[in-house]
Amino acid sequence: MASKLSDVARTLVAPGKGILAAGETPGTLTKRFEALGIHSTPDTRRAYREMLFGAYGASEFISGVILQDETIRQQASGGLPFARMLTELGILPGIKVDAGAKPLAGSPGETVTEGLDGLRERLAEYRKMGARFTKWRAVLRIDGDRLPTRACIHANSHALARYAALAQEADMVPIVEPEVLMEGAHDLARSDEVTSEVLQEVFRELFVEDVQLECLLLKPSMVIPGSRSSEKASQLEVAAATLRCLLRHVPAAVPGVVFLSGGQSPELATAHLDTINRLQWPAPWTVSFSYGRALQDPALERWGGHKDRAEAGAQALIHRARCNSAAALGAYSPAMEEGQDGIRMPNAAQPATLDH
Ligand code: 13P
Repeated sequence: MASKLSDVARTLVAPGKGILAAGETPGTLTKRFEALGIHSTPDTRRAYREMLFGAYGASEFISGVILQDETIRQQASGGLPFARMLTELGILPGIKVDAGAKPLAGSPGETVTEGLDGLRERLAEYRKMGARFTKWRAVLRIDGDRLPTRACIHANSHALARYAALAQEADMVPIVEPEVLMEGAHDLARSDEVTSEVLQEVFRELFVEDVQLECLLLKPSMVIPGSRSSEKASQLEVAAATLRCLLRHVPAAVPGVVFLSGGQSPELATAHLDTINRLQWPAPWTVSFSYGRALQDPALERWGGHKDRAEAGAQALIHRARCNSAAALGAYSPAMEEGQDGIRMPNAAQPATLDH
């Protein structure tokens, strides 16, 4: 397996591969379980993660899995710690290391992600446990022209860069995740404007902190109208706006851009990734996925907390992983969704040939 940091980063975005984001805190996973009537205990959360990580054939499509503090300390039923189990399956274990988004002083409605205190020591411990990469999520909310504030963009970008420097020092690849929330009534143009400003500031701070761009991955949100916007953007419009924005603000030295799904339906997140990869614009970085809900939701629903449905859950994960793997190569077809129970057909993915 990869040893140098830049090799680890490139391994994570090997052709047709992406990341399974499973770094939800126990609190967040409990909410998802409860919405489906599943009892949430350390052991049911462990069983759920074992079903996902052990899905047969996952390493064909999944290069890495983002774990969380509880999970990296747990073992699969065979007795292997999850990080070891993943490594033996040929999947790189990663770990979410931020301490969550906390209210930003002086700016109601905005947050700054915390977790820098004691981070060096926590990183050293996770590295010893086998983690090869890490993740930190910053959250930016759009509210008209009012939010996000300059202070929020700066504070979050600075924290992302301090985290990324510490992760590299600890011999782990940082995944830098500035999420511009889809929640809101903003249109595509406003999403573009905010995402541009955020990416520009993030890379400025990464430069100031002397972070090696060859040894990190960017995990951005797509440029997309807000969930309460009256504007309807086509897949091609979202893909074109997203890629244009990234081309303007993400340096070519970065090996990979791995999107979050951010509340898009699983099928739409796949179709958007595919359309981005079909655009005839030369992107200098690999464009792939690091989806949480868009990979897990169908598997979670099928499993439903029942031991005897673990195989069905695992198959649902593999199906979405296969579709997203194809999308990472611009080779997804909606026909791949046929025969999948409860999985809606997306609109046909158009070949994408927009000009700059
Ligand atoms: P979603 O794909 O569900 O947005 O999750 C990605 C993630 O890692 C959030 O931090």
